[in-house]
Amino acid sequence: MKVISTINELQSTLKSLSLSPVGFVPTMGALHEGHLSLVRTAAEQSPVVVVSIFVNPTQFNDKNDLKNYPRDIAKDLGLLKNILRENDIVFTPSVEEIYPVEDKRVFSFGNLDLVMEAKHRPGHFNGVGQVVSRLFDIVKPDLAIFGLKDFQQLAVIKELVRQTGDKVKIIPHPIIREKDGLAMSSRNMLLEPEIRMNAPLIYKTIKQASLMIRENDIPEIQLMVKRNIENLENFELIYFEIVDDTELKPVENRAEMIAGEKYYGCIAVKAGKIRLIDNIEIGLV
Ligand code: PAF
Repeated sequence: MKVISTINELQSTLKSLSLSPVGFVPTMGALHEGHLSLVRTAAEQSPVVVVSIFVNPTQFNDKNDLKNYPRDIAKDLGLLKNILRENDIVFTPSVEEIYPVEDKRVFSFGNLDLVMEAKHRPGHFNGVGQVVSRLFDIVKPDLAIFGLKDFQQLAVIKELVRQTGDKVKIIPHPIIREKDGLAMSSRNMLLEPEIRMNAPLIYKTIKQASLMIRENDIPEIQLMVKRNIENLENFELIYFEIVDDTELKPVENRAEMIAGEKYYGCIAVKAGKIRLIDNIEIGLV
């Protein structure tokens, strides 16, 4: 694999390789098995894969979160070396390379930017839109893989591509979980041991919610979720919403749900000092 940090070198390398389709996996590093499985999927589908490692400052609404975000480039490169092939590229740009001037673009993602994560992290998805559109312009991928764990981000990126008319194909990748069910996340390594021990209850709870929908209405399910999560010491429920899978409009009552349509139960939890998200498909059978 090649490790490249400038746009010029990246673009000239891709040009001289002249391989297609170009597969792309954007990441913020601190790689885990979830990322690696996106990379493997990209490699199965493309003769050349670009993996970017860039902690994007514009998507952090909380400066401390940006400062504490885990970074270990040497470890990341070691992991990628086991998967990537000779022609594949790890792109590790600096902030100045990505933003030579301040990015003042303001995107409009409609309802996607009003609910759940957007409500609690103002400006977050605008920052994601900025960096992803910038990376798409630089890499010009034919396909890009995004994990379903960041369900709302995936919807935002699909909308971004719809608005820009970019030809990149967005491929969702299933959530990869630890053996105990906790969704893999770079933030998991920041959890204190006791919090980490209790964190699998998040997935257990949303799984229970997905079963309860058969016989219970949504407010009862939300109550169960809140009780389960907040019974744990130092756990706080930020939200649990059942939303449709395109506009992410929250459904308030079971009667609004249409059999056969896809809905997702999305949860955000403050586990100690760390914010964790997860989701599960929920539908009427
Ligand atoms: O999901 C992430 O890791 C980031 O939000 C992304 C898509 C790489 C943009 O910085």
